[in-house]
Parts: sequence; structure tokens; C-alpha cells
Amino acid sequence: MANDFLSEEKISEIRDRASILEVVSDYVSLKKTGRNYKGLCPFHSEKTPSFMVNEEKQIFHCFGCGEGGDVFAFLMKTGHFSFPEAAKELAKRYGINLPRREPSPLQKKEMAKKEVLFRINQMASEYFNDLLTRKGEGEPGRKYLSQRSVSEQMVKEHRLGYSPDRWDGLVQHLTEKKVPLDLAWELGLILPKKKEGWYDAFRKRIIFPIFDLHQRVVGFGGRLIGEGQPKYINSSESSLYHKGEVLYGLQAAKRHASEKDGVIIVEGYFDLLTLHQYGWKHSVATLGTALTTQHIRTLRRYTKNVITVFDPDPAGIQATLRTLPLLLEEEVTGKAVLLPKGEDPDTFLKKGNLKGFEERLAKAIPLIDFFFEWLMKTHDPKSVDGKVSIAKEGIAMIQRIPEKIRKDFYVRALAERLDLKESVLYEMIKSTPAERTRPGEGLKKRPPEESLPKSEEIVVRLMVHHPELIPTISGEGILDEFESPFLKRLGRELEGIFQKKGKLNLTEALGGVDEGLKERLCEYAFQENGVEGDQRERILKDCIEKIRRRRSKKDESDLLRKIKEAERQKKGGGLEALLMERQEMAKREKGLLKGGFRKD
Ligand code: CTP
Ligand code: MN
Repeated sequence: MANDFLSEEKISEIRDRASILEVVSDYVSLKKTGRNYKGLCPFHSEKTPSFMVNEEKQIFHCFGCGEGGDVFAFLMKTGHFSFPEAAKELAKRYGINLPRREPSPLQKKEMAKKEVLFRINQMASEYFNDLLTRKGEGEPGRKYLSQRSVSEQMVKEHRLGYSPDRWDGLVQHLTEKKVPLDLAWELGLILPKKKEGWYDAFRKRIIFPIFDLHQRVVGFGGRLIGEGQPKYINSSESSLYHKGEVLYGLQAAKRHASEKDGVIIVEGYFDLLTLHQYGWKHSVATLGTALTTQHIRTLRRYTKNVITVFDPDPAGIQATLRTLPLLLEEEVTGKAVLLPKGEDPDTFLKKGNLKGFEERLAKAIPLIDFFFEWLMKTHDPKSVDGKVSIAKEGIAMIQRIPEKIRKDFYVRALAERLDLKESVLYEMIKSTPAERTRPGEGLKKRPPEESLPKSEEIVVRLMVHHPELIPTISGEGILDEFESPFLKRLGRELEGIFQKKGKLNLTEALGGVDEGLKERLCEYAFQENGVEGDQRERILKDCIEKIRRRRSKKDESDLLRKIKEAERQKKGGGLEALLMERQEMAKREKGLLKGGFRKD
């Protein structure tokens, strides 16, 4: 993890000062049992607690779902933090100063330019807002908004504006303010005329400033007053505005989204305003683009429950379904609300259907069910072909779910719908590789319990609990002889840290290994076997012997197999020659083999 402003020492300092018990306690209610604290796992649903925290080792582990790690991993797994964010959060909580990285001259220049761009957007926003709320020239804007029943409160909260029906309103304003006009052009606020001079990009429109999370204006949307084309225009992409990332209204919705632990996603500016106006303040809008992974990641910082509201037309349904795989991959739960034909949230609510909307929200369909439902409708579930297609498409979707229990749950749901055995679907899962895997995911899969050789496991456990044995283990070179590559890697990692530091810091070890190893390491750390000192040595010796014995047996049988193989091949070669000969004979008999075709 290359985070320039986070040196290894800083990370260690944070780790040392933070209390995993305190941090986890914000999310899970924990009870002390022996050396550990126990609670209900926040990462999977369970009725009896199998989630453990060990304050002394500063780690957590769930024996139910296998999640585990240190305090950083915990915060990241809650889905609300990236690694640097977790570090910042912990540093703040435990009073550790994080040095800001010194930016390069080029970066400084870019930052300074961005500042200027933000200032220009701010000026433009004030100009538009001023026109709408204070100037005589803003009358058509006010009239339009009142026709559409947009409250003054919304105008204020979302700093709406009006751009007059003129070519040079903003150009003049910015010129007076001595703004470099080419920068305003870069922001898509004004455009160059053919010959010389500039003209306003937004004319005769209601202006929606688009904010980032720090309440800075990154861009604008403009709705034409009255009929005409184009109905909406948006700022062009700039270093401030990326439409695949920004969500309209998020700056106002974020607090409510985390309080309600849910967020409503709609498509349009007016839809958003209406929802906010009527009290659904945990709503955001995507602004004419499909929901992207970037959007989901932003939202996930506030909640992992999203409700999409789309048109019931085919395009709307397709858009809804397209978001499903993205949500699944980001481990965000999605539900869908469908409105009556021809309605959007704005028109629906303005007709007074407030209760109707709330009911629809309450009855929102989980997107995956919506997807299964759609599969059942678009294929014939009674025919074999139909079933196969549904199973295939359904499995392809389920494959994207990272969490195992969720996966299992939906496999069951799909099997029930198709009246098939779950095992049939699991067979399919096994034989179809997942479409997209994230880096390191291949390693994440933990090998099945029985595949780990017991003696090798014991050696690694001894390394975890009695690092003083590590030099002996290294001296014997027994890790080289491990059969399980998984345990070998884990052992190597522990060995490496011990050699470097002269002690074994578990949280550091956890930081250095991939997901699959991490789980196992946590599990071992929580299971102490409390063997006496002299017994430990004896157990270690026994294990080493067993590993060696098995190894030499395996080598022997490998050799035997090779010899047999070679013999078989020799025989096979003979057989082949025989067959060739017979073929040649047959061809010659039919007179097909002309001399010129012979290779030899
Ligand atoms: N949109 C856009 N450019 C367009 C049309 C639409 O950017 N030419 C975006 C806008 O963000 C718009 C959203 O897509 O709000 C939804 O479009 P649409 O349903 O056509 O408009 P409404 O939001 O319903 O607008 P209105 O109610 O004003 O007709
Ligand atoms: Mn509309």
C-alpha cells in the first residue's frame, strides 16, 4: 500500500496507539469471555456470536465467516473506509499527527489552478443565484420554479440559479471580475465565438450548481425554461467535474443517508429537488448517466443500502439491471422501486402520492430478486432450454457476490425458482470461472479445511504462539518441505518478520499477507493450545519428522509413477507404429497413396 503520506512508522504508531476493542465496540456490542471479547459478527448475519476481538494482540476474527485482521482491516471491512481513510480516522481519534506530504512544484501549480477554477465556479454560481433570487431579470426563472412547485427552501438549500436569455450576461460579469476567460471556457461556462469574443453557454435556464462533498461547486446543470432543445445541458468534463463520479445532491443527502442507513437514487435534477422538498433527504441523482462503480464507492461511505427509482420502461429496467452487478461487487445491497408508467418521482409526488411513494419504498424489491423475476419472464422456465439459460445467467450474476453466505442464499433462491437441486447450480459455479475477479481474489479463497496437512498446520501454529521456536524451524529448513503452498507462504511470512525484527508482531504480519492467509493467521492466533515449554519442542520434532517422512514417501511414489508412465509411453509408441503400418497397408491396397505424397 503505497500511501506517500503514511510512512510505515506512522502506520505502526497508529496501530500501537489505537485500541481495537474501542474501535470495534462502536459497531459491535462485545462481551468478555476469557482473554477475548465476543459478539455478533457485523460482516455476516448470525444469531450466536462467533466474532472475537483480542485486545492484547490487537486483532479480530470471525469463526463464522472467516473475516479477520487488525484495526485497519476492521474499519475497511465495514465498507466505510479506504486504507488511508481508516488511517486518518484513527489518527484523529488517537491524537496522532499525520504529516502532509510536500507537493511537487507541478502539483502545487495544478492545485493553485484548481483553486482558481473553483473560485470561478463559485462566482458564476453566485451570479446565477443572485439573478434568480434578487434581480428583476430573474422573473422568468422564479415563475418557472413556482409553476413546478419548487419551494424557496429548495432554492436556498441547493443554491439554484437562473441564466438570463442573453448571450453575454456571464461573460460580462466575469470580465468585470477580471476572470481569465479561457479558464471559464475550460469549465464549460462560456464558449468562444467564431471570430473573437465569448458567449454564455447557459441561457434562459434554471441553473443547478453541482457540489462536491466539501460544498464546492464542480459544475452546473441547466434546464431550459419552456419547451425546446436541448432540454438539459451540463458542464463539460473538466478537472473539477467528472460526471461518472459526481452525484447531484449528495452534499445535502450524505448526513441523512448515514443516519437512515440508506440512500435513494433517482435520475433527474427535479426528481431530486422534489424528494428533498417532501422530506426524503437521503436522495441523490445520477444526472443522465448510468450509475458507476465510482458512484457506488462514494455512497458506500455513508450506507450500504441503496434504493434505485427508475422508469418502468425497458430502458429503465435495463438501467436498473445494469447496476446490479456493480452493487454486488461492491457489497452494497440494492433494491428497486418502480413507479407507474410515465411517471418520474417528481411528477408522481407532485400529484400528491406521498403515501404511495413511501409504500413503494417500503416494498422495494431486492434487485437480485428483480433480476431473477426478469429472467423468469424473459425465458420459459418450464422448458429445459429456458431453465438452462436462466441458470446460466443467474449463476453468472451470483458469481459476482463476494460474500459466501449471501451467495449460498441466492443459489438456494435460484434453485427453488427453477425447481432444481442446489448441487446442480454449485456444479455450474465450479465449472464457470467468475467474470471479473478483483486483484488478489484468487488468493482469497481459503483452501478447504481437510486439505491442510495437520503437522504443517501445527508448525505454523507454533510459530504464531511461540515465535522463539522460529529459529529452530528455520534451521531445520522444514518450511521448504511443506506440501501445502498456502502454509508454506504463511510460514515464510512469519519467518521473514521474525528475522527482520527479532520478534513477531502479529498485526504487522497481518498487514503483509494477502486475504486468505490473513484469515488463517487470525484463526490460529485465537486458538492457543497452551502446551508446556518442553512439550512444544517435542511436538515440533514430531511434526518435522512426520513432514519429512511423508515427503520422502511422496518423492518415492512420484518416481514410481514416472517410471510407469515412461514404460506406458514406450509401449504406446510401439502400438502407434503398429497402427501406422496397418494404415499404410490399407491405403496401398486401395492405391490411394501416390508416391509424391509420401513424406519420407
Ligand atoms: N439529462 C441530461 N441531458 C438531457 C436530458 C436529460 O443531462 N438532454 C439528465 C438530467 O440530469 C435530467 C435527467 O437526465 O434531469 C433525466 O432526464 P429526463 O427524464 O428527460 O428529464 P427530467 O429530469 O424528468 O426533467 P423535467 O422534469 O424537467 O422534464
Ligand atoms: Mn421530470
